Amino acid sequence: MIATEKKLALEIKNLHVHFRVYEGISRVLDGVSIEVGKGERVGLAGETGCGKSVTMKAVMGILKRPPTIIPSGEILLNGKNVLKMIHTELIRIKGQ
Ligand SMILES: Nc1ncnc2c1ncn2[C@@H]1O[C@H](COP(=O)(O)OP(=O)(O)OP(=O)(O)O)[C@@H](O)[C@H]1O
Ligand SMILES: [Mg+2]
Repeated sequence: MIATEKKLALEIKNLHVHFRVYEGISRVLDGVSIEVGKGERVGLAGETGCGKSVTMKAVMGILKRPPTIIPSGEILLNGKNVLKMIHTELIRIKGQ
């Protein structure tokens, strides 16, 4: 069998997202990893409050930092790291 490398549209690697809240730090995402191939459609399912929306807000780059803290993790959208993008790059991606 020939191993073919899957082309990824989205790769979330060990993503941690915390929020600074009145009581201290709320650790909402604690090591999320997801791969989505090009042309693939994926649904996120889970109980209410488990972090589905926060995960996708991180991908869209729409979590305000601060108060959101992203201590570790990587989000690659078509190979580009969303967490390191500058504002104008992000705007272009959101437009698409
Ligand atoms: N800006 C924020 N500051 C503090 N806590 C937050 C913030 N946004 C989300 N949370 C908390 O993060 C957790 C995950 O929320 P999220 O909205 O991602 O859940 P969900 O899986 O999308 O739930 P639902 O199925 O109800 O849409 C919840 O406990 C929520 O209260
Ligand atoms: Mg939600």
